[in-house]
Amino acid sequence: MKVEYKVKRYNPESDVALESFDTYVVELDQAATVLDGLIKIREEVDNTLTLRCSCRSAICGSCAMRINGQAMLACNTKVSDFEENGNIKLLVEPPGNMPVIKDLVVDFVPFWSKVKSVDPWLKSSHPPKYMEEHIASNESMLHLSGVMGCIMCGACVSDCTVLEVDKSFLGPAALAKAYRFVSDPRDDSTKFRLKALEKPSGMWDCTRCMQCVEVCPKGVDPMGRIMKLRDFAIQDGYKNTYGAKHTAVFTDSVKNTGWLNEFQLPLRTFGIFNVFKLLGLLPILLDALVSRKVPPVFHHKLPSVSSIQRIFKKVDLQITKRE
Ligand code: FES
Repeated sequence: MKVEYKVKRYNPESDVALESFDTYVVELDQAATVLDGLIKIREEVDNTLTLRCSCRSAICGSCAMRINGQAMLACNTKVSDFEENGNIKLLVEPPGNMPVIKDLVVDFVPFWSKVKSVDPWLKSSHPPKYMEEHIASNESMLHLSGVMGCIMCGACVSDCTVLEVDKSFLGPAALAKAYRFVSDPRDDSTKFRLKALEKPSGMWDCTRCMQCVEVCPKGVDPMGRIMKLRDFAIQDGYKNTYGAKHTAVFTDSVKNTGWLNEFQLPLRTFGIFNVFKLLGLLPILLDALVSRKVPPVFHHKLPSVSSIQRIFKKVDLQITKRE
């Protein structure tokens, strides 16, 4: 089976360190992975092709890259998945949102420094004595098994749409790691952790685009973990952020009128005297005017609001039961 690889190249040592694409056609068998083909290219066609890989079993997390526009593990992705009308064409690029060192290899220093910034270790005021274990029951740890499956491959960071425009955002991997320790029953620094995470560039900056959930090869659900962190923060009384206020106003509007009062949302979130913040929204208002999508100033209750309120009651009941 012939497979066409179009690989993004970048060589910082060349006279003109420009990005370009090289095309290779290789013969692979039906079960081959994208990584098998890249290794074959490197070994038999072009030994200058640079990539990272190790375990070839979706364990070490080294081979995350963008394949046909989406981050995935090259060792866990079959070339045959991309067959279209008998042709297989692959566009292979380095993972996004990280500086490229060479070809498909990126610099993970920013990634690790963000993970380190959330203090990814257990903090307990009663640490076990030397050679003792800090024991937690199976039941109290089971809910963490999903997030502990993270292999730190960076696929979520690669395709995070917030990092695309704001490099200071902590990002899905670091926030999922923060959740892992906030939710650990042996950790008693939850309050300090949540306080740190509510700062700008932290948990409230996620836009819930779900891209990290889509591309995570291990089902870690980083966005779901970020939403949980927000819940914990609100429950612990950290409500004085724009994010927490936005959530409260949004919920209040839907609960009381059946739909979102988009006109009041920014006014109540930022406060009507927060002139600078509100002036910053002027371009959005102008865009809305041009596209005739300005929300109504006078907001009416939906006639079916009682059905929506019943949903809220059911959800509240479920939450109380779970607690
Ligand atoms: S080579 Fe280890 S995860 Fe792909």
